[in-house]
Amino acid sequence: MNRREFLAFAASLATSSLIASCSDDAPSQSVPVPKAPERISVQDSLNDVLARWSAVTTNVDGSPLADLAGYRVYRARIPSRPFQLVAAVPPNALEWRDGSLRPGDIFYYKVKAVNAKGIESDFSPESQAISLSIRVASEVLPAFGAALFLNRNGDVVPPSASRSDLTLTRSADGFIALSRFCTHAGCSNMRFENQVWVCQCHGSQFSQQGRVLGSPAQTDLERYRATLQPDGSVIISFSSSPLQ
Ligand code: FES
Repeated sequence: MNRREFLAFAASLATSSLIASCSDDAPSQSVPVPKAPERISVQDSLNDVLARWSAVTTNVDGSPLADLAGYRVYRARIPSRPFQLVAAVPPNALEWRDGSLRPGDIFYYKVKAVNAKGIESDFSPESQAISLSIRVASEVLPAFGAALFLNRNGDVVPPSASRSDLTLTRSADGFIALSRFCTHAGCSNMRFENQVWVCQCHGSQFSQQGRVLGSPAQTDLERYRATLQPDGSVIISFSSSPLQ
C-alpha cells in the first residue's frame, strides 16, 4: 500500500467510525410498555377467592395498547415479600379464581398486563388481605352480650387465647364480625364489656360495631360481613366491595 492508498484507507475508516458513532448516539426507538391495571379487588367465598381488575387499553406513553396478550396474576402472603406468578389469563378475561387456598391462608394479589412481545406493565396496586370465608355453626353462635373469638380458619378459641383473628357478637340487627386487632398498636387483648370493646393494652374503646369510642386509638376496627344463613349458621366474608 503506497502513501496515497494508505491515506485513502485511513480516511474511509474515519468516515465509517464517524457514521457508527453517529448511529450509536441516535435516539433508540422506544418500545411501548403497557400501563398497569389501575384497580384490583378480591372477593372470598367458602371455596375460593375471585380476583378482578380493571382493563388496560393504553401504553405508558399514552398510545393505544393494540397488542395486549393478557394479564399475569401474582400473589404473596406478606406484601413486603416478592409476589409470585400464579396465573396467566387471556386479554378478554378480567378476573381469575384462586381455588388453591386452604382455610386460614391469607394472601395479597397484584396483576400486570403483558403485550405480545412479552413486555409486562408495572404491578397494579395490591389487593386487600383476603382469605376464604368461614362458616360458624349455629350451635356455637354467641348469645346477646357475649362474644365469640375465632381464627381465620374458622376455629373457635377461648377468649383467654393469647391470639385470635376476629370476634363475633350478636346485635339486635344480626351479627357483627370485627378484627380483634386494636388499631392503636395491634394488641389483640380485647374484652367485650357492656356492649363495648375495651383494649387491655392501653385502654382504647370501640363500640360493638367497631367505631372508636375512646383513645388512644383513632381508627375504627376492621369490620367483616357476617350473614345469617337459612340453616342458622353465619358466614363471615373478608372481602370489601367488589370492583364495579
Ligand atoms: S394497642 Fe390497644 S390501646 Fe394501645
